[in-house]
Amino acid sequence: MVIDCLENYEAMSSRAADVVASAISEKPTGVFGFATGSTPVGLYKSLIARYQRGEVTFSKLTTINLDEYIGLSADHEQSYRFFMQHNLFGHVDVQPECVHFPPVNGEPAAFDDLIRNKKGIDLQILGLGSNGHIGFNEPGSAFDSRTRVVELESSTIRDNARFFEHQRDVPRQAVTMGIKTILEAHQILLLASGANKANAVARSLEGPQTENVPGSCLQSHPNVIVLLDEAAAARLTTK
Ligand code: GLP
Repeated sequence: MVIDCLENYEAMSSRAADVVASAISEKPTGVFGFATGSTPVGLYKSLIARYQRGEVTFSKLTTINLDEYIGLSADHEQSYRFFMQHNLFGHVDVQPECVHFPPVNGEPAAFDDLIRNKKGIDLQILGLGSNGHIGFNEPGSAFDSRTRVVELESSTIRDNARFFEHQRDVPRQAVTMGIKTILEAHQILLLASGANKANAVARSLEGPQTENVPGSCLQSHPNVIVLLDEAAAARLTTK
């Protein structure tokens, strides 16, 4: 695991864009796993700027998203499909038929089959929940879990209520790529920023590997890059 602590959110986002853009240049036909949430927004802005300068193209990529709420229509402003369209896909040359989300109605296992048929995910981008979740794999998720429907923790519903008019509007369920599926990605890029992530970062990177802290599963992956800002890195003992 390579852990890099950057001065602030902008520097973290720009370094993340370096990693993603160079992975796309190395494998323009690759399978790239994208994440939602506020953390990767700066990364996506930076990728859009690079695309506009002609430095990167998404035209041959396959994209796979980590998770999706259940109960929101695809055009709902808080659906993750809408988020990706608004924050990245709608601004670059990604081919709509190459964009994939875990199925909200269909058979979750079909998503793992799709990833397997594509020969796996080359680079999976991840954020981290304040409770240590990755995707929507909440604490207690089995390390051998696959794509499935999950119930959201009340802390996650509270965290994500900031994007909705009322907390009661936040869906209670989601479909998420499983931990085992995430761990099968060839490379993982974990991003965390802000003081409210410091505890989850320390527990994920330096604590015992336990299903109570989903992010701690990443310690067993051979190829993880972690990019943090100073606030998120504050509770790490190794600097
Ligand atoms: C959300 C998403 C995760 C995301 C995390 C952190 O609930 N399901 O994929 O990484 O929580 O979100 P944020 O980046 O907004 O803090």
